[in-house]
Amino acid sequence: MNKKRLAIFASGTGSNAINLIKTFREEKALDICFVLSNRADAGIVNSAKEEGVQVIVIDNVQAADGAYLTDLCNEYEIDWIVLAGYLRLIPNDLVRAFDHRMINLHPSLLPKYGGKGMHGRNVHLAVLENEESRTGITIHFVNEKFDDGEIIAQFQCSLEDVDTVEGVESKIRTLEQSYLPVVVKTTILNAIN
Ligand code: GRF
Repeated sequence: MNKKRLAIFASGTGSNAINLIKTFREEKALDICFVLSNRADAGIVNSAKEEGVQVIVIDNVQAADGAYLTDLCNEYEIDWIVLAGYLRLIPNDLVRAFDHRMINLHPSLLPKYGGKGMHGRNVHLAVLENEESRTGITIHFVNEKFDDGEIIAQFQCSLEDVDTVEGVESKIRTLEQSYLPVVVKTTILNAIN
């Protein structure tokens, strides 16, 4: 069986990207070919290099250039893209090229608390301000809008014992670390394409 070739896009610390790299290192069916970041100073740039994974840093012009990103992925024969804390909107050309082959992780129960500007602690603050009793994570396919594509899986946690952004973040990170790799792997291996 041919290995499926993955690219991970990340803009921040990259704890999810690193979890994927470590989990898939021994995975015979999947190969992480590079991590792409739109920020040269993002934590993921060094931590991915430390894990021995190639890192490609792009600027904001390249991040908005669908033809450039599609060519880049084609050059590396990428089959699937995972967005793990990637904060730029994906250009339409790349969305079309990776229709149902691009997966995003979002730290809320979409469609609640998604869209432009809704990332990281902004999400958790809004969840607390609305006195939600539960929150969670959504893993979904990517379309041309932020946090809007077809949902693959959601996982919930209770907020009964939590009243700080840090507390919500900690619960979300636990869910992300537990579930993202298995959902990504299952989605890819079950896909027909
Ligand atoms: C995660 O909470 C993820 O759900 C969201 O941004 C955060 C990124 O964290 N999209 P990290 O960079 O993976 O540590």
